[in-house]
Amino acid sequence: MPKLTITDIGNFEVPAGKRLVNALIDEAKIDQLHACGGHARCTTCRVQFVAGEPQQITEAEKQLLKDRGLTEIPGLRLSCQISCDHDMEVKAISRLAGSGRKDAGARPGDQIDPPAVWTTK
Ligand code: FES
Repeated sequence: MPKLTITDIGNFEVPAGKRLVNALIDEAKIDQLHACGGHARCTTCRVQFVAGEPQQITEAEKQLLKDRGLTEIPGLRLSCQISCDHDMEVKAISRLAGSGRKDAGARPGDQIDPPAVWTTK
């Protein structure tokens, strides 16, 4: 099982292939935001990679990061568009606490949505 490390929070074993956003919710049990429900529309599921940033990126994530002007921030990626298929370390930089939102968002489904079309950054 891949290991997920969250800086200053802990290490967690994650079922291979699980969406990173759902691993943050289920395994790490943090209050990760995912306002659009994991559909690559909001960017609140963002994390910042410290190690193990995937080389692959979905077309939807790439486009959204570009549209929101987020491509220049090192390691910034959308956890709803990433599968836990290797060890990784991230900083949890977008959480419900302090956000002013009433909830974290609808639970994302098990599969990457829109259906993943993989490309490179
Ligand atoms: S972009 Fe909205 S939850 Fe990922």
